[in-house]
Amino acid sequence: MNPKNIPKLESEVIDQVSIRRKGTQEEWQVDVRKASIGPDSIDIRSFYSDSKMFTWDPGFTSTASCTSAITYIDGAKGQLLYRGYPIEQLAAHSDYMETCYLLLYGSLPNPEEKQQFVDDITNHTLIHTQLEIFYRGFMRGAHPMAIMNGVVGALSAFYHDSTDINDPEQRRLAAHRMIAKMPTIAAYAFQYANGMAFPAPKNKYSYAENLLQMMFSVKSEKYEMNPKIVKAIDRFLILHADHEQNASTSTVRLAASSGANPFACIAAGIASLWGPAHGGANEAVLRMLNEIGNKKNITKYVDKAKDKKDPFRLMGFGHRVYKNFDPRANVMRDSAYEILEELGINDPRMELAMELEQIALKDDYFVEKNLYPNVDFYSGIILSAIGLPTNMFTPMFAVGRTVGWLAHWKEMFTDPDSKIGRPRQIYVGETERDYVPMKDRGHTNRPLLFTKFWQR
Ligand code: CMC
Repeated sequence: MNPKNIPKLESEVIDQVSIRRKGTQEEWQVDVRKASIGPDSIDIRSFYSDSKMFTWDPGFTSTASCTSAITYIDGAKGQLLYRGYPIEQLAAHSDYMETCYLLLYGSLPNPEEKQQFVDDITNHTLIHTQLEIFYRGFMRGAHPMAIMNGVVGALSAFYHDSTDINDPEQRRLAAHRMIAKMPTIAAYAFQYANGMAFPAPKNKYSYAENLLQMMFSVKSEKYEMNPKIVKAIDRFLILHADHEQNASTSTVRLAASSGANPFACIAAGIASLWGPAHGGANEAVLRMLNEIGNKKNITKYVDKAKDKKDPFRLMGFGHRVYKNFDPRANVMRDSAYEILEELGINDPRMELAMELEQIALKDDYFVEKNLYPNVDFYSGIILSAIGLPTNMFTPMFAVGRTVGWLAHWKEMFTDPDSKIGRPRQIYVGETERDYVPMKDRGHTNRPLLFTKFWQR
């Protein structure tokens, strides 16, 4: 691997901004740091020590938590670049292994580098037989994300020779192991639910082929590979491979900032990904389409989504960064059509999804708020067409995203400004008060209503 490709994480100071407290003489200067593309940032690192004030930004809507050279999104343009390459070009011409190499090592591999990388990943696809026994501890009906979370976290108990984060070779080994084992772990979660034996990964297969054969092969029959499905799954993995500082990647970075072992960090990413506002949305979209059931019900559900008193949202719509369109969704829609045609499936949910998209895109509420279909809107149609149940959609996302988590985890080690993540808060609780002994606290006849304390 070529170390000269490692991009520098410095960003140049190009200007200063003044912050003045109204009605006082207090004024602070903060540096402006340059981005290679996209918004520059004001450097507020010394702002607290200078001003004795924190900055407040719940959900990090305006805050850059790091410098990064991996992925760039221009939400207004609907642009997504991995190491500078447009996602549409990678989806059309690259493959997942090459994309993994690109994200991890900064440039497209030459033929020898690609072969060396593929060979190394292929050599790590098996999981320890004792880890296979782990699966038996889970209920057969357990959600596969719960299983993946447990099994990935447990890897640190099996691969002791790759948990020392201060050793670059151990870091490399941990990263390659995780990329290699993720399809095995996800496929076994699926096979376990079905009560089936765990098929071994086969070295002759590509990454996507192996994922498919481990999910769908049964002992009694030869698994026939459909190249179009293989291509669709490979493309699915490319489209999910990274998405800069999203919730799960930020979770991985935060967990890693304490020096936690890599397997534990990725397990933390899996936990964060599972939520329906993030990677769990693909499962939620299919549940929503099933619930809507018929085109004539669409208006009712669009109205529900617009009603602020109703917690229902149109799943697969909206994004923190994309305010035009999600370029991944366009590729995914075309891919969904291709797979449905290839398999000769007439899935009414696809028609429903198209109609829902059209109605929402013309609706003032969605137009004003720039809510467009995101990657999760169409991905479930593909996964469902190839025979996966809805609870396997987010594990598929996790398989694809693992390389992104690892690329960011790796990048942290080359970042001289990396620190333990430790946000501040605006404290709005009680000021200091004296402890009241139990005998002085009075009595009440009211029944205890704990639930009241858990309401939003
Ligand atoms: N349906 C109805 N209203 C919505 C939706 C939606 N799907 N998404 C956002 N809004 C409204 C929201 O109520 C808010 O309205 P107001 O300004 O009146 O309060 C406004 O649009 C902005 O929404 P937000 O929740 O403040 O935006 P955010 O950037 O914090 O959240 C999001 C982004 C993706 C969590 C949100 O759009 C959402 O919940 N979408 C549905 C879940 C989903 O599809 N998630 C997958 C994201 S893409 C895959 C991934 O990378 O994880």
